[in-house]
This record gives sequence, C-alpha cells and structure tokens, in this order.
Amino acid sequence: MSIRLAPSILSANFAALGEDIRKVEDAGAHILHVDVMDGHFVPNITIGPPVVKAIKKVTRLPLDVHLMISDPDKYIPVFAEAGASMLTVHAEATVHLDRTLNLIRSQNVLAGVSIVPSTPLSAVEQVLGLADMLLIMTVNPGFGGQKFIPYTVEKIKRARRLIDERNYGCKIEVDGGIDGATIPEVVRAGAEVLVSGSAIFQAVDPARKVRELLEIANSVEYDRRYV
Ligand code: DX5
Ligand code: ZN
Repeated sequence: MSIRLAPSILSANFAALGEDIRKVEDAGAHILHVDVMDGHFVPNITIGPPVVKAIKKVTRLPLDVHLMISDPDKYIPVFAEAGASMLTVHAEATVHLDRTLNLIRSQNVLAGVSIVPSTPLSAVEQVLGLADMLLIMTVNPGFGGQKFIPYTVEKIKRARRLIDERNYGCKIEVDGGIDGATIPEVVRAGAEVLVSGSAIFQAVDPARKVRELLEIANSVEYDRRYV
C-alpha cells in the first residue's frame, strides 16, 4: 500500500501561504489538504472558493478540499470550478449522500465522504462504492492541533476489511492529531492518506518534518494480522 502525505494548510501561515505550500511540496508531500469550515457544521470559519482558486495557481499538488459545511450540495460546483481535485463531504451534513456523491462525480472531481469520530462506519457503508476516499476523522472536526482519539483506530480497521472484501477502489484517509507518534498505528490499521496540519506547519522546519513523517509512514507495514 503506498502512503500519501497530505499537509493541511489550516496550520500554515495564511499571510505567507504560497511559501509554506512550496516548502511542503518540495519536500515530497503528495496532496494538499484544504479545510473549509462554515461556522455552522463546525464551530469555526476558515476559507472559501477564492482561496482555493488562488492556491491552485501556486501548486501542482492535487487539492483535497474537506468541506466541513452544512448543505454541501450548494457549493460543490463552485469548489470544483475553483480547482479542487477532490471534494469530501460529511455524512452528517447531508441527508441524501448518494445524490451528493453523484453530484461531485458529475463535476469531474474525485468524491470523498467523511465521518466524525462518533459516527459509525455503517452510516457510509452503502455508498462506499461511489467514493474515491473515505475520510475517517480522528478528532472532532473544527480545529487544528487537537489530540488524536484512540477509539477511531478500530473504525479504520473495520473500514479496511470492508473495502478489501468488496474490492472497492476507495482509499482510507485519516485526519486529526496525525504526527510521528500516531502514524504507525493508523498505517498498521490500513490508512493510506495521512492528513497532518500542526505537526508539519508548526514545526521549526516544515520541509524536514514532511520528510520525517514520510520516513516513519513508509517504515511501517499495513499489517493484516493487526487488522
Ligand atoms: C480538523 C481539520 C484538520 C486539521 C488537522 O477539523 O479537518 O484537517 O487541520 O490538524 P492537526 O493535524 O493539527 O490535527
Ligand atoms: Zn481536514
């Protein structure tokens, strides 16, 4: 399983975003994770389509746009137009998840579905065949720098088993409290895309941190026995 590292710009320096992005891109990050929050679905407000559009111009990395917003259907076309490579919606924020994932696919971007720590895997089981990515939140969404919630590991393992059994192309992404200490556990459980914000951008040397996290991730094997 090849591991992908997705730095979350939420913890970057917004006044020098282009520079921070260049640092992690040059260091070998694979994806850029962009957190969109509306102050309604989550208790925080961040950025919208104009910023996605601006970032798109300064990086070659695919933009993984994590929509922590209510009623995402309304905004899917505009984020696709702004340059998102993948749009991830929360199962808790939309009633007709099947329709929402199909809407994302119709915009020619990859479709992701996310669940918060308290939501069981069964909430998305029916639609995993429509998703390119399952984002398992390992903290309660809303803020960077929170502590990893250990009980989410069990959910990663169950998701891995389900996806493998059904032969789905859906990748497992984890987000929240991902750093050198938690990476071995989530990779062994079957996570493939690792989002990391504060561990990277609050490090003295973000480029060095990217290389360090990649080295840790690649030294751990996904362990079927552990799952
Ligand atoms: C949290 C966001 C995360 C956040 C992760 O709601 O979805 O992407 O940036 O930050 P860290 O890695 O600091 O937990
Ligand atoms: Zn996120």
